[in-house]
Amino acid sequence: MAPTIKVGDTIPEATFNYIPYTPELESKLACGIPIKLNTSQWKGKKVVIFSVPGAFTPTCHVNHLPPYLEKYDEFKAKGVDTIAVVAANDAFVLSGWGRFEGVGDKILLLSDGSAKWSASLGLSVDLSAIGFGVRTGRYALILDDLVVKYVELEPGTDVTVSGAEAVLAQL
Ligand code: BEZ
Repeated sequence: MAPTIKVGDTIPEATFNYIPYTPELESKLACGIPIKLNTSQWKGKKVVIFSVPGAFTPTCHVNHLPPYLEKYDEFKAKGVDTIAVVAANDAFVLSGWGRFEGVGDKILLLSDGSAKWSASLGLSVDLSAIGFGVRTGRYALILDDLVVKYVELEPGTDVTVSGAEAVLAQL
């Protein structure tokens, strides 16, 4: 898919499922309870979103999420209210991934079920050939008051334009 969303557009509304971090989740027996986050909650906020094709997949796990965590203070210093990672995985898997990566409450892990919202932005990817089905592409967005200030979909399999460094440079 090619991006249909562009700089200056207001994002389409969406409701994501996610499990808010609480210290109780550190217990391996805790599953958490998914709740909903509607994009209207980002009204008036500066939000950085990055998207991965799947939790725990090699590139996402090693190269994509960790730099966002390492540079959390730099994002905050640039006025970012919320950092969120979006994937087509369910909220339980994403919560488990967040715990494994030590994300705490710094990054929201949002489930874009069936990659519906990402597809509406032209930012989904069909990975049926490897048994993954339709997933969210590897992309990044900067939103200010729900308006897109930066949108880039990775042209290949590496983390470049959607990585923490590239996004920080745009803030
Ligand atoms: C990855 O390395 O992040 C990846 C591998 C297979 C499918 C999707 C992503």
